[in-house]
Amino acid sequence: MKTKKIRVIFVCLGNICRSPLGEGVFRHLVEEKGLVEYFIIDSAGTASYHAGELPDPGSRRIAEKHGISLNGQYARQFIANDLTQWDYIIAMDSTNHSNIRQLGALSSGNLHLMREFDPEGLGDVPDPWARGDEAFLETYTIIRRSCEKLLEHIIKEHHLPQ
Ligand code: 4NP
Repeated sequence: MKTKKIRVIFVCLGNICRSPLGEGVFRHLVEEKGLVEYFIIDSAGTASYHAGELPDPGSRRIAEKHGISLNGQYARQFIANDLTQWDYIIAMDSTNHSNIRQLGALSSGNLHLMREFDPEGLGDVPDPWARGDEAFLETYTIIRRSCEKLLEHIIKEHHLPQ
């Protein structure tokens, strides 16, 4: 058993729509592969508007439909102290990415865009907030395939058992 865990955090604006899905989907994939003991997984928002809230009902619905648990998630703000606490900071869009950078110095190479890992295209993970279930499905689909590749990438980078 590894002693130093691999720390992965997903970051969006409000931490109620996209990043809770990132956290939930990634944890689900890690559990499926039996790799839970290697990871610490979290999510946060660059803004504090929704601190303390549960994930948005749209995210909860789409997660539940796909057997993904968002239980135990409450929104919190991403703060300067987080910058060096995580091996992988995964920003959902370019605005989140630049807001994170503006908070201060990062650890070398630890900040990424979610869609760097999307085999079907770059760009932002669309924000489904205050939109309908179709928007949440599109967002979920992008996050799901990006998280699959992200986990493959981390497994290789850290020589984890497969
Ligand atoms: P998220 O979506 O960043 O994916 O959690 C949003 C949630 C709330 C707001 C914007 C985006 N808002 O403006 O309150």
